[in-house]
Parts: sequence; structure tokens; C-alpha cells
Amino acid sequence: MSLSDVLDRIDADLPAATDRLIDLLKIPSISTDPAFKADCDRAADWLVADLATMGVTAEKRPTPGHPMVVGHVGEGDPHLLFYGHYDVQPVDPLDLWDRDPFDPEIQDTPKGKVIRGRGAADDKGQLMTFVEALRAWKAVKGDWPCKITFFLEGEEESGSPSLVPFMQENAAELKADVAMICDTGLFQSKTPGITTMLRGLLGEELTITAPDIDLHSGMYGGIARNPIRVLSRIIASLHDETGRITVPGFYDGVPELPDALEAQWQGLAFDHDRFLGDVGLSHPAGEHDRTPLEMIWSRPTCDVNGIWGGYTGDGFKTVLPAQAHAKISFRLVGTQDPLAIRESFRKMVQDMLPPDCTVEFSGHGASAASGADTSGAMFEEARQALSEEWGIPAAYIGCGGSIPIAGHFQSITQTEPMLIGFGRDDDAIHSPNEKYDMESFHKGIRSWARILDAVT
Ligand code: BES
Ligand code: ZN
Repeated sequence: MSLSDVLDRIDADLPAATDRLIDLLKIPSISTDPAFKADCDRAADWLVADLATMGVTAEKRPTPGHPMVVGHVGEGDPHLLFYGHYDVQPVDPLDLWDRDPFDPEIQDTPKGKVIRGRGAADDKGQLMTFVEALRAWKAVKGDWPCKITFFLEGEEESGSPSLVPFMQENAAELKADVAMICDTGLFQSKTPGITTMLRGLLGEELTITAPDIDLHSGMYGGIARNPIRVLSRIIASLHDETGRITVPGFYDGVPELPDALEAQWQGLAFDHDRFLGDVGLSHPAGEHDRTPLEMIWSRPTCDVNGIWGGYTGDGFKTVLPAQAHAKISFRLVGTQDPLAIRESFRKMVQDMLPPDCTVEFSGHGASAASGADTSGAMFEEARQALSEEWGIPAAYIGCGGSIPIAGHFQSITQTEPMLIGFGRDDDAIHSPNEKYDMESFHKGIRSWARILDAVT
């Protein structure tokens, strides 16, 4: 039985594979919200049961947070580990969804068929691409291509608090030749890619308190310190007029793009007008003198993800609030040290506080950037397999998002990550009306079958 038999089997089984994905998408496994803890557990159970149907004995392994799903099958070199995450982002604002986010369906759109629902692209649809590829492989060939480990996480979208201890405790079991991570996208929605650079992420939440209680803004306005004004001034000062971030020491460890990489990225002919135009924007708003691809792949950022305080309900209230809050994130590159930046940021805020103000911080994850070493033969084999499936030469690309486990594989289990995914820029991940193209799902499954054939 040859690769083409496996590909035929994948084509024939697509309706059943789609039904399985829809089943998984119905489980609201929102990891960040404790109200959905039982659902995260249920999603892990679903995966264990589904893997069992194809002959993989996987286990739901407890952690202090949501469980991991780990299973091993097959033997022989290379040892491939497949990683994906079964948790999803919250669905708010719910009123912007066209349908119940956990009642997924196949929809016809002008660009083709899509599976609409929370987690369709990030990451349940993607993680099922390699599950389905292996199911077809086993069904056709009667055996596994090599030693395979499944490692499926339920906390990725909430900063993976249990991941590092779990990987440390199970390092020998999780060590493989390559960790295949299916959680990234195609380049410009059509060119297959292997992601070689991921940004790190540092999350900071801060609350500034000035008066003890909310005050009448007529009675106290003018004399009393307003924490929203203090917070606004601090936030406004985080960037200079050229878009550079002003936190002291922030750029320590930020490398300039090597000439060879710059030339390769030029060759990708990134259409930033379209990238921005698709979301109603027209002007790159990052650091001056940086190319658009640098802005999203290789430069660090500071962004405000949320800001609140005072009265934000309907109507109007003349309140001078006691507190103001913000959630701020930094995307990190190169060897920027997340903990050093956290310390420097907190000190900068402290130093800017006027009298009568106090600040409290809480951290939300701190992970460094990571990069893949593509010199191993398997990278070129996988790249060729992808090119054959998609009919377009696959590219080595960057990714502005963060997948902290890629770096953990390198540092904890000495396993090189290989990041291959089939998401598209318009998938609306983390947003209302998330979808995954049926083409991504189908060709994604076929891609993994070709990659397995190429690397074994
Ligand atoms: N799948 C995404 C990462 C991603 C984003 C890949 C965009 C390709 C394009 C991943 O699940 C994710 O969203 N990660 C979070 C980090 C996490 C620590 C909360 C992110 O990047 O914000
Ligand atoms: Zn993801």
C-alpha cells in the first residue's frame, strides 16, 4: 500500500472526519474560565476515546489545571511527537457571533466551505489534521509509520500554567526527535509554510489606586488625583514618537535581521496593503523604518489589550474613580528576557506614579521567543511534502503569535520543534465567528500523510 492509497482514504473519509471535528467543537473547553473546567475535562476524555478508536492508547493525565492527553504508538525511528491544544478562547462578545459558537456547522462562503465555531482553527481543527492523517495511515497500511507520541494540552490559551512542571516531570517520556506543532498558519492564506520564528509573550495587569473611594467629580474634581489620568499618561509614555518602546533595557537582546533572512523575506513579497486592508486598516503603525514583515515577525511590541475604570455603563455618571486598570502585553523576540522586562516595566510605572497613588501588578505569563533550527534533513523533507500537496513551494516563515511550548521542547526535552499549520489570516481566531476552511482541514490532513511518508 502506497502513499496515494493513504491519500485516497483521507479523501473518502473526509465526511466522517468532519463529523468527528464537529463533535469535538461542540465541547466548550474554554481554559481560562473556571466555569468551563468540566468541559475541558470532557474534551480531554473525548480525545482519549477518539484516539482509542484508531488503536492509540492515550491517557488523560492530571495536572493542577486542565489535564494533558498523552499517548504513544508504533516503534522505530524517527520518534515523532505531535502537539496541539484542545482548549479554546472565550467567546465574548457573544452578540457579534452569527450563531452559537459551540454549535458548529459547515457553511458555504464566497471563498469556499468553512467549519464555523470556536476552536475550529485554533486549535481543534488543526490538531485533528494529524490525528486524521494517522488514522488513515493505520487503516491503509495496518501499522504506524514510526514511534509516535501524541501530546495534547488543555491550557495553551491561558498561558499553560501546568506545562513546564509537567514537561519536566515527564521529560524522558516526551523526548522525541522532532515535535510537530500544528498551531500556526499558511503564509498569506495560500502558501504552505514552516514557521521558524515565534515571538515570546509577557502579560502584565496593573491597578492604580488614588482616593480610597469613588468621589463626586464636582465636589472633588480639580483637587483629587484621578487614577485614570495617571494610567493614561503612563500608557501614553510607553512608546516614543518613532514607535519605539521606552521601557529601560527593553531592546537588550533584540537582534537585527540577518541579511540572508531579510533577502528571503523580501522574496515572499508580503502584501501588507491587503493584510491591513482586509481588517479595515491602511497604514503600518509600528516602529518607523521597519518593514511590515519585521513588524509582525521579528520586532518586539507593547500593546494595551484592555483598559477600564470609572463608569462605563449606559448614560453618564460624574464619578472620579478610586481605581484604574489595564492589561498590557509585550511580544518579545531574540533573547529578550521576559522577567527582566517585567521588572523594568514595573519599576518604570512605579517611578512615574505621582503622590497619593499606589499600584498593584499581577503577571500573566512570561515566555521568551523561540526559533527552530531548520538544518536537520527532516525540515527539507517536510517542506517538499508540503510543496507537493499545495502545488506552491512551501516557505520558511515567521509568526507574530506565541506558542511557548516550542521553546520548552528545546530547553526541557532537547527536541527540535517543527511548526506546520494551515490556518488563514481571515480565520478570526480569538474573535467572533472563528472558522477553519474545509480546504485547510482536508489538505492539512493530506499534508501530514505526505510528511509522514517523507520523513520515515
Ligand atoms: N495558535 C495561536 C498562535 C498563533 C497566532 C499562530 C496567530 C499563528 C497566528 C496560539 O494558540 C495563541 O493564540 N497563543 C497566544 C499565547 C498564549 C500564551 C495565550 C498568543 O499568541 O496570544
Ligand atoms: Zn493555538
